[in-house]
Amino acid sequence: HEEFTKVKNIATIELGRYEIETWYFSPFPPEYNDSVKLYFCEFCLNFMKRKEQLQRHMHVLRLISAFDHMLYSVELILKNWFINGMQSCGHFGFGISLANLKVLVLCLVAKNYGVEMNAFGGVEIEMVQSNASLLDECARISFLFDLQQRKCDLKHPPGDEIYRNGTLSMFEVDGKKNKVYGQNLCYLAKLFLDHKTLYYDVDLFLFYVLCECDDRGCHMVGYFSKEKHSEESYNLACILTLPPYQRKGYGKFLIAFSYELSKKEGKVGTPERPLSDLGLLSYRGYWTRVLLDILKKHKGNISIKELSDMTAIKAEDILTTLQSLELIQYRKGQHVICADPKVLDRHLKAAGCGGLEVDVSKLIWTPYK
Ligand code: COA
Ligand code: NA
Repeated sequence: HEEFTKVKNIATIELGRYEIETWYFSPFPPEYNDSVKLYFCEFCLNFMKRKEQLQRHMHVLRLISAFDHMLYSVELILKNWFINGMQSCGHFGFGISLANLKVLVLCLVAKNYGVEMNAFGGVEIEMVQSNASLLDECARISFLFDLQQRKCDLKHPPGDEIYRNGTLSMFEVDGKKNKVYGQNLCYLAKLFLDHKTLYYDVDLFLFYVLCECDDRGCHMVGYFSKEKHSEESYNLACILTLPPYQRKGYGKFLIAFSYELSKKEGKVGTPERPLSDLGLLSYRGYWTRVLLDILKKHKGNISIKELSDMTAIKAEDILTTLQSLELIQYRKGQHVICADPKVLDRHLKAAGCGGLEVDVSKLIWTPYK
Protein backbone atom coordinates (compact mmCIF):
# COMPACT_ATOMS: atom_id res chain seq x y z
CA HIS A 1 0.00 0.00 0.00
CA GLU A 2 2.45 2.53 -1.26
CA GLU A 3 -0.18 5.25 -1.58
CA PHE A 4 -0.78 5.21 2.15
CA THR A 5 2.38 7.13 2.99
CA LYS A 6 2.17 9.63 0.18
CA VAL A 7 1.64 13.27 1.00
CA LYS A 8 -1.71 14.75 0.11
CA ASN A 9 -1.37 16.33 -3.31
CA ILE A 10 -4.70 17.90 -4.21
CA ALA A 11 -5.98 20.13 -1.40
CA THR A 12 -9.43 20.99 -2.72
CA ILE A 13 -11.78 20.01 -5.48
CA GLU A 14 -14.73 21.70 -7.04
CA LEU A 15 -17.66 19.40 -7.73
CA GLY A 16 -21.10 20.67 -8.65
CA ARG A 17 -21.94 23.51 -6.32
CA TYR A 18 -19.44 22.44 -3.67
CA GLU A 19 -15.85 23.20 -2.99
CA ILE A 20 -14.57 20.26 -0.96
CA GLU A 21 -11.41 19.91 1.08
CA THR A 22 -9.76 16.57 0.43
CA TRP A 23 -8.58 14.12 3.08
CA TYR A 24 -5.90 11.95 1.49
CA PHE A 25 -3.50 11.43 -1.38
CA SER A 26 -4.86 10.23 -4.69
CA PRO A 27 -2.63 9.09 -7.57
CA PHE A 28 -3.78 11.44 -10.33
CA PRO A 29 -1.80 11.28 -13.56
CA PRO A 30 1.55 13.17 -13.37
CA GLU A 31 0.35 16.17 -15.39
CA TYR A 32 -1.88 17.09 -12.43
CA ASN A 33 0.99 17.04 -9.93
CA ASP A 34 1.44 20.81 -9.92
CA SER A 35 -2.22 21.50 -9.11
CA VAL A 36 -3.57 22.07 -5.62
CA LYS A 37 -7.13 22.33 -6.85
CA LEU A 38 -8.98 20.28 -9.43
CA TYR A 39 -12.29 21.00 -11.12
CA PHE A 40 -14.56 18.00 -11.63
CA CYS A 41 -17.46 17.79 -14.01
CA GLU A 42 -20.15 16.54 -11.62
CA PHE A 43 -21.74 14.36 -14.30
CA CYS A 44 -18.94 12.61 -16.22
CA LEU A 45 -16.36 13.18 -13.42
CA ASN A 46 -13.67 14.37 -15.83
CA PHE A 47 -11.29 16.59 -13.94
CA MET A 48 -9.47 19.68 -15.08
CA LYS A 49 -6.84 22.05 -13.81
CA ARG A 50 -8.58 25.28 -14.65
CA LYS A 51 -12.02 26.64 -14.01
CA GLU A 52 -12.29 27.93 -17.57
CA GLN A 53 -11.74 24.42 -18.87
CA LEU A 54 -14.60 23.17 -16.74
CA GLN A 55 -16.83 26.01 -17.88
CA ARG A 56 -16.03 25.31 -21.49
CA HIS A 57 -16.72 21.65 -20.86
CA MET A 58 -20.10 22.40 -19.29
CA HIS A 59 -21.31 24.95 -21.79
CA VAL A 60 -21.94 23.66 -25.25
CA LEU A 61 -22.51 27.12 -26.70
CA ARG A 62 -19.14 28.35 -25.60
CA LEU A 63 -17.63 25.26 -27.05
CA ILE A 64 -19.23 25.74 -30.43
CA SER A 65 -18.05 29.31 -30.59
CA ALA A 66 -14.54 28.20 -29.71
CA PHE A 67 -14.71 25.68 -32.50
CA ASP A 68 -15.91 28.28 -34.98
CA HIS A 69 -13.15 30.56 -33.92
CA MET A 70 -10.64 27.88 -34.56
CA LEU A 71 -11.97 27.03 -37.99
CA TYR A 72 -11.83 30.69 -38.84
CA SER A 73 -8.19 30.85 -37.75
CA VAL A 74 -7.39 27.78 -39.77
CA GLU A 75 -8.96 29.36 -42.79
CA LEU A 76 -6.90 32.51 -42.42
CA ILE A 77 -3.74 30.51 -41.98
CA LEU A 78 -4.44 28.39 -45.00
CA LYS A 79 -5.22 31.40 -47.16
CA ASN A 80 -1.97 32.96 -46.10
CA TRP A 81 -0.18 29.78 -46.72
CA PHE A 82 -1.51 29.46 -50.24
CA ILE A 83 -0.83 33.07 -51.13
CA ASN A 84 2.63 33.37 -49.62
CA GLY A 85 4.98 31.35 -51.68
CA MET A 86 3.34 27.96 -51.34
CA GLN A 87 4.70 27.16 -54.79
CA SER A 88 4.57 23.50 -54.07
CA CYS A 89 0.81 23.72 -54.21
CA GLY A 90 1.08 21.08 -56.86
CA HIS A 91 1.52 18.93 -53.85
CA PHE A 92 -2.19 19.17 -53.48
CA GLY A 93 -2.77 18.94 -57.17
CA PHE A 94 -4.76 15.80 -56.72
CA GLY A 95 -7.57 17.95 -55.46
CA ILE A 96 -7.76 18.44 -51.75
CA SER A 97 -10.30 21.16 -51.18
CA LEU A 98 -9.88 23.91 -48.64
CA ALA A 99 -12.60 22.25 -46.56
CA ASN A 100 -10.69 18.99 -46.54
CA LEU A 101 -7.52 20.78 -45.61
CA LYS A 102 -9.32 22.25 -42.62
CA VAL A 103 -10.18 18.77 -41.53
CA LEU A 104 -6.59 17.72 -41.99
CA VAL A 105 -5.41 20.52 -39.79
CA LEU A 106 -8.01 19.60 -37.21
CA CYS A 107 -6.75 16.03 -37.29
CA LEU A 108 -3.26 17.28 -36.72
CA VAL A 109 -4.26 19.48 -33.81
CA ALA A 110 -6.25 16.61 -32.41
CA LYS A 111 -3.23 14.37 -32.73
CA ASN A 112 -1.16 16.89 -30.80
CA TYR A 113 -3.63 16.40 -28.00
CA GLY A 114 -3.57 12.67 -28.22
CA VAL A 115 -7.07 12.44 -29.67
CA GLU A 116 -7.38 9.99 -32.52
CA MET A 117 -9.38 11.35 -35.42
CA ASN A 118 -9.43 8.93 -38.27
CA ALA A 119 -11.26 11.10 -40.75
CA PHE A 120 -8.27 10.73 -43.05
CA GLY A 121 -5.71 8.04 -43.53
CA GLY A 122 -2.20 8.41 -42.21
CA VAL A 123 -0.79 9.38 -45.61
CA GLU A 124 -2.44 12.75 -45.83
CA ILE A 125 -1.75 13.57 -42.23
CA GLU A 126 1.92 12.82 -42.72
CA MET A 127 1.98 15.09 -45.71
CA VAL A 128 0.69 18.02 -43.69
CA GLN A 129 3.00 17.17 -40.86
CA SER A 130 5.99 17.40 -43.14
CA ASN A 131 5.36 21.08 -43.60
CA ALA A 132 7.11 22.85 -40.77
CA SER A 133 5.41 26.23 -41.10
CA LEU A 134 1.97 24.72 -40.95
CA LEU A 135 3.03 22.77 -37.90
CA ASP A 136 4.02 26.01 -36.18
CA GLU A 137 0.68 27.53 -37.01
CA CYS A 138 -1.08 24.50 -35.69
CA ALA A 139 0.79 24.73 -32.43
CA ARG A 140 -0.41 28.32 -32.19
CA ILE A 141 -4.07 27.66 -32.86
CA SER A 142 -4.10 24.65 -30.62
CA PHE A 143 -4.10 27.13 -27.74
CA LEU A 144 -7.44 28.37 -28.96
CA PHE A 145 -9.19 25.17 -28.50
CA ASP A 146 -8.45 22.27 -26.28
CA LEU A 147 -9.92 19.30 -28.05
CA GLN A 148 -9.58 17.05 -25.06
CA GLN A 149 -12.13 19.04 -23.14
CA ARG A 150 -15.03 18.12 -25.32
CA LYS A 151 -18.50 19.12 -24.33
CA CYS A 152 -20.43 17.17 -21.78
CA ASP A 153 -24.00 16.16 -22.59
CA LEU A 154 -24.53 14.17 -19.42
CA LYS A 155 -26.96 15.28 -16.73
CA HIS A 156 -26.56 12.08 -14.68
CA PRO A 157 -24.01 9.29 -14.31
CA PRO A 158 -23.68 7.04 -17.36
CA GLY A 159 -25.40 3.66 -17.01
CA ASP A 160 -28.83 2.46 -15.91
CA GLU A 161 -31.09 4.07 -13.36
CA ILE A 162 -32.07 1.08 -11.23
CA TYR A 163 -33.82 2.86 -8.37
CA ARG A 164 -35.85 6.01 -8.04
CA ASN A 165 -37.73 7.20 -4.99
CA GLY A 166 -38.74 10.85 -4.94
CA THR A 167 -35.63 12.88 -5.71
CA LEU A 168 -33.28 10.01 -4.90
CA SER A 169 -31.92 7.89 -7.76
CA MET A 170 -29.38 5.12 -8.00
CA PHE A 171 -27.43 4.45 -11.20
CA GLU A 172 -25.56 1.26 -11.99
CA VAL A 173 -22.41 1.93 -14.00
CA ASP A 174 -20.50 -0.97 -15.56
CA GLY A 175 -16.77 -0.26 -15.30
CA LYS A 176 -16.15 -2.12 -18.51
CA LYS A 177 -18.62 -0.07 -20.52
CA ASN A 178 -17.67 3.20 -18.85
CA LYS A 179 -13.98 2.84 -18.14
CA VAL A 180 -13.08 6.51 -17.98
CA TYR A 181 -15.99 7.25 -15.66
CA GLY A 182 -14.99 4.35 -13.41
CA GLN A 183 -11.39 5.53 -13.26
CA ASN A 184 -12.43 9.11 -12.58
CA LEU A 185 -14.66 7.91 -9.77
CA CYS A 186 -11.76 5.97 -8.24
CA TYR A 187 -9.45 9.01 -8.39
CA LEU A 188 -12.17 11.07 -6.72
CA ALA A 189 -12.94 8.48 -4.05
CA LYS A 190 -9.30 7.93 -3.13
CA LEU A 191 -9.19 11.57 -1.97
CA PHE A 192 -11.38 10.44 0.96
CA LEU A 193 -10.10 6.90 1.52
CA ASP A 194 -6.74 6.34 3.18
CA HIS A 195 -6.13 2.66 2.96
CA LYS A 196 -7.58 1.42 -0.27
CA THR A 197 -5.34 0.89 -3.24
CA LEU A 198 -6.86 2.29 -6.34
CA TYR A 199 -8.52 -0.12 -8.72
CA TYR A 200 -7.19 0.53 -12.16
CA ASP A 201 -8.97 -2.57 -13.31
CA VAL A 202 -12.38 -0.96 -13.26
CA ASP A 203 -13.61 -3.54 -15.79
CA LEU A 204 -14.23 -5.98 -12.96
CA PHE A 205 -16.49 -3.64 -10.99
CA LEU A 206 -19.97 -2.22 -10.97
CA PHE A 207 -20.43 1.23 -9.49
CA TYR A 208 -23.63 2.18 -7.72
CA VAL A 209 -23.87 5.95 -7.81
CA LEU A 210 -26.45 7.61 -5.59
CA CYS A 211 -27.84 10.95 -6.75
CA GLU A 212 -30.11 13.71 -5.56
CA CYS A 213 -32.00 14.89 -8.63
CA ASP A 214 -33.43 18.30 -9.51
CA ASP A 215 -34.14 20.21 -12.70
CA ARG A 216 -30.42 20.79 -13.30
CA GLY A 217 -29.63 17.09 -13.27
CA CYS A 218 -28.71 14.21 -10.96
CA HIS A 219 -26.05 15.22 -8.47
CA MET A 220 -23.86 12.51 -7.02
CA VAL A 221 -23.94 12.30 -3.23
CA GLY A 222 -22.02 9.06 -2.84
CA TYR A 223 -21.44 5.61 -4.25
CA PHE A 224 -20.29 2.11 -3.59
CA SER A 225 -18.42 -0.29 -5.84
CA LYS A 226 -18.98 -4.00 -6.13
CA GLU A 227 -16.98 -6.73 -7.80
CA LYS A 228 -18.89 -8.44 -10.60
CA HIS A 229 -17.69 -11.80 -9.30
CA SER A 230 -16.37 -12.03 -5.78
CA GLU A 231 -14.87 -15.25 -4.51
CA GLU A 232 -14.86 -13.91 -0.94
CA SER A 233 -18.59 -13.06 -1.14
CA TYR A 234 -17.87 -9.34 -0.94
CA ASN A 235 -20.96 -7.32 -1.77
CA LEU A 236 -19.19 -3.97 -1.45
CA ALA A 237 -15.62 -2.90 -2.19
CA CYS A 238 -15.50 0.86 -1.57
CA ILE A 239 -18.14 3.14 -0.08
CA LEU A 240 -18.12 6.90 0.00
CA THR A 241 -20.48 9.68 0.92
CA LEU A 242 -19.07 12.97 -0.37
CA PRO A 243 -18.23 15.17 2.63
CA PRO A 244 -20.93 17.84 2.03
CA TYR A 245 -23.53 15.06 2.22
CA GLN A 246 -22.17 13.09 5.18
CA ARG A 247 -24.08 12.45 8.43
CA LYS A 248 -27.43 12.67 6.63
CA GLY A 249 -28.11 8.95 6.38
CA TYR A 250 -26.81 8.34 2.86
CA GLY A 251 -24.10 5.98 4.11
CA LYS A 252 -26.71 3.80 5.79
CA PHE A 253 -28.76 3.91 2.63
CA LEU A 254 -25.79 2.72 0.53
CA ILE A 255 -25.06 -0.13 2.95
CA ALA A 256 -28.72 -1.19 3.07
CA PHE A 257 -28.81 -1.03 -0.73
CA SER A 258 -25.78 -3.34 -1.03
CA TYR A 259 -27.60 -5.94 1.07
CA GLU A 260 -30.80 -5.58 -0.95
CA LEU A 261 -28.77 -6.44 -4.06
CA SER A 262 -27.35 -9.49 -2.26
CA LYS A 263 -30.86 -10.59 -1.31
CA LYS A 264 -31.92 -10.36 -4.96
CA GLU A 265 -28.88 -12.47 -5.87
CA GLY A 266 -29.82 -14.99 -3.20
CA LYS A 267 -26.37 -14.67 -1.63
CA VAL A 268 -24.92 -13.49 1.64
CA GLY A 269 -22.48 -10.62 1.45
CA THR A 270 -19.88 -8.75 3.44
CA PRO A 271 -17.89 -5.57 2.86
CA GLU A 272 -14.30 -5.86 1.71
CA ARG A 273 -11.77 -5.37 4.52
CA PRO A 274 -10.17 -3.37 5.98
CA LEU A 275 -12.97 -0.99 6.90
CA SER A 276 -12.15 2.58 7.84
CA ASP A 277 -13.22 3.85 11.28
CA LEU A 278 -16.20 5.64 9.76
CA GLY A 279 -16.98 2.63 7.62
CA LEU A 280 -16.95 0.31 10.61
CA LEU A 281 -19.14 2.67 12.64
CA SER A 282 -21.68 2.77 9.84
CA TYR A 283 -21.67 -1.01 9.37
CA ARG A 284 -21.88 -1.73 13.12
CA GLY A 285 -24.89 0.56 13.25
CA TYR A 286 -26.54 -1.13 10.28
CA TRP A 287 -25.94 -4.68 11.50
CA THR A 288 -27.13 -3.84 14.99
CA ARG A 289 -30.37 -2.26 13.83
CA VAL A 290 -31.25 -4.93 11.31
CA LEU A 291 -30.48 -7.88 13.58
CA LEU A 292 -31.99 -6.48 16.75
CA ASP A 293 -35.15 -5.42 14.94
CA ILE A 294 -35.63 -9.05 13.94
CA LEU A 295 -34.79 -10.40 17.38
CA LYS A 296 -37.29 -8.01 18.92
CA LYS A 297 -40.14 -9.18 16.72
CA HIS A 298 -39.21 -12.85 16.59
CA LYS A 299 -40.89 -15.39 18.85
CA GLY A 300 -39.00 -18.51 19.91
CA ASN A 301 -35.53 -19.69 18.95
CA ILE A 302 -33.60 -18.35 16.01
CA SER A 303 -30.20 -19.39 14.71
CA ILE A 304 -27.45 -17.32 13.16
CA LYS A 305 -27.98 -19.21 9.92
CA GLU A 306 -31.64 -18.16 9.90
CA LEU A 307 -30.69 -14.54 10.61
CA SER A 308 -28.19 -14.70 7.79
CA ASP A 309 -30.76 -16.09 5.35
CA MET A 310 -33.21 -13.33 6.24
CA THR A 311 -30.76 -10.43 6.02
CA ALA A 312 -28.01 -11.52 3.57
CA ILE A 313 -25.55 -10.55 6.32
CA LYS A 314 -22.67 -13.02 6.50
CA ALA A 315 -22.78 -15.31 9.56
CA GLU A 316 -19.37 -14.09 10.84
CA ASP A 317 -20.60 -10.49 10.83
CA ILE A 318 -23.72 -11.50 12.73
CA LEU A 319 -21.67 -13.34 15.30
CA THR A 320 -19.18 -10.50 15.89
CA THR A 321 -22.01 -7.96 16.09
CA LEU A 322 -23.97 -9.97 18.64
CA GLN A 323 -20.79 -10.81 20.57
CA SER A 324 -19.74 -7.18 20.77
CA LEU A 325 -23.18 -6.39 22.20
CA GLU A 326 -22.74 -9.31 24.61
CA LEU A 327 -25.89 -10.97 23.34
CA ILE A 328 -24.29 -14.37 22.87
CA GLN A 329 -24.21 -16.58 25.90
CA TYR A 330 -22.90 -20.05 26.51
CA ARG A 331 -25.59 -22.18 28.11
CA LYS A 332 -25.78 -25.93 28.63
CA GLY A 333 -22.90 -26.55 26.26
CA GLN A 334 -24.07 -24.36 23.40
CA HIS A 335 -24.14 -20.77 22.19
CA VAL A 336 -27.50 -19.05 22.38
CA ILE A 337 -28.69 -15.61 21.49
CA CYS A 338 -29.99 -13.79 24.51
CA ALA A 339 -32.79 -11.50 23.47
CA ASP A 340 -34.06 -9.72 26.53
CA PRO A 341 -36.39 -7.02 25.11
CA LYS A 342 -35.10 -4.35 27.49
CA VAL A 343 -31.49 -5.04 26.56
CA LEU A 344 -32.38 -5.03 22.85
CA ASP A 345 -34.14 -1.69 23.18
CA ARG A 346 -31.14 -0.18 24.91
CA HIS A 347 -28.79 -1.31 22.10
CA LEU A 348 -31.21 -0.23 19.40
CA LYS A 349 -31.42 3.21 20.87
CA ALA A 350 -27.63 3.48 20.94
CA ALA A 351 -27.39 2.34 17.32
CA GLY A 352 -29.28 5.45 16.13
CA CYS A 353 -31.90 5.76 13.46
CA GLY A 354 -31.98 3.74 10.27
CA GLY A 355 -31.28 6.67 7.99
CA LEU A 356 -32.86 6.86 4.55
CA GLU A 357 -35.04 3.86 3.85
CA VAL A 358 -34.49 1.64 0.79
CA ASP A 359 -37.92 0.98 -0.71
CA VAL A 360 -37.32 -2.39 -2.37
CA SER A 361 -40.46 -2.07 -4.48
CA LYS A 362 -38.67 0.74 -6.35
CA LEU A 363 -35.58 -1.31 -7.15
CA ILE A 364 -35.62 -2.57 -10.74
CA TRP A 365 -32.58 -4.74 -11.09
CA THR A 366 -31.33 -8.10 -12.25
CA PRO A 367 -28.03 -9.51 -11.00
CA TYR A 368 -24.97 -9.22 -13.23
CA LYS A 369 -24.37 -12.32 -15.32
N1 COA B 1 -18.39 10.91 13.56
C1 COA B 1 -19.03 10.01 14.33
N2 COA B 1 -19.84 9.05 13.84
C2 COA B 1 -20.00 9.01 12.51
C3 COA B 1 -19.37 9.93 11.66
C4 COA B 1 -18.54 10.92 12.23
N3 COA B 1 -17.93 11.84 11.48
N4 COA B 1 -19.73 9.65 10.42
C5 COA B 1 -20.55 8.58 10.46
N5 COA B 1 -20.71 8.19 11.73
C6 COA B 1 -21.49 7.04 12.19
C7 COA B 1 -22.70 7.45 12.94
O1 COA B 1 -23.02 6.40 13.80
C8 COA B 1 -23.71 7.55 11.83
O2 COA B 1 -25.00 7.39 12.29
P1 COA B 1 -25.77 8.62 13.01
O3 COA B 1 -25.59 9.83 12.14
O4 COA B 1 -27.18 8.15 13.10
O5 COA B 1 -25.09 8.79 14.34
C9 COA B 1 -23.35 6.40 10.96
O6 COA B 1 -21.95 6.31 11.04
C10 COA B 1 -23.75 6.50 9.51
O7 COA B 1 -24.13 7.78 9.16
P2 COA B 1 -24.59 8.11 7.69
O8 COA B 1 -25.03 9.54 7.66
O9 COA B 1 -25.58 7.11 7.20
O10 COA B 1 -23.25 7.88 6.88
P3 COA B 1 -22.50 8.86 5.88
O11 COA B 1 -23.37 9.23 4.77
O12 COA B 1 -21.87 9.96 6.62
O13 COA B 1 -21.40 7.85 5.29
C11 COA B 1 -19.28 6.81 5.27
C12 COA B 1 -20.58 7.03 6.07
C13 COA B 1 -18.40 5.80 5.99
C14 COA B 1 -19.61 6.26 3.90
C15 COA B 1 -18.59 8.19 5.17
O14 COA B 1 -18.14 8.58 6.42
C16 COA B 1 -17.43 8.23 4.21
O15 COA B 1 -17.60 8.30 3.01
N6 COA B 1 -16.18 8.21 4.74
C17 COA B 1 -14.99 8.29 3.93
C18 COA B 1 -14.76 7.06 3.14
C19 COA B 1 -14.72 5.82 4.00
O16 COA B 1 -14.09 5.79 5.02
N7 COA B 1 -15.41 4.78 3.53
C20 COA B 1 -15.44 3.51 4.17
C21 COA B 1 -14.31 2.70 3.68
S1 COA B 1 -14.48 1.04 4.24
NA1 NA C 1 -20.71 10.25 8.30
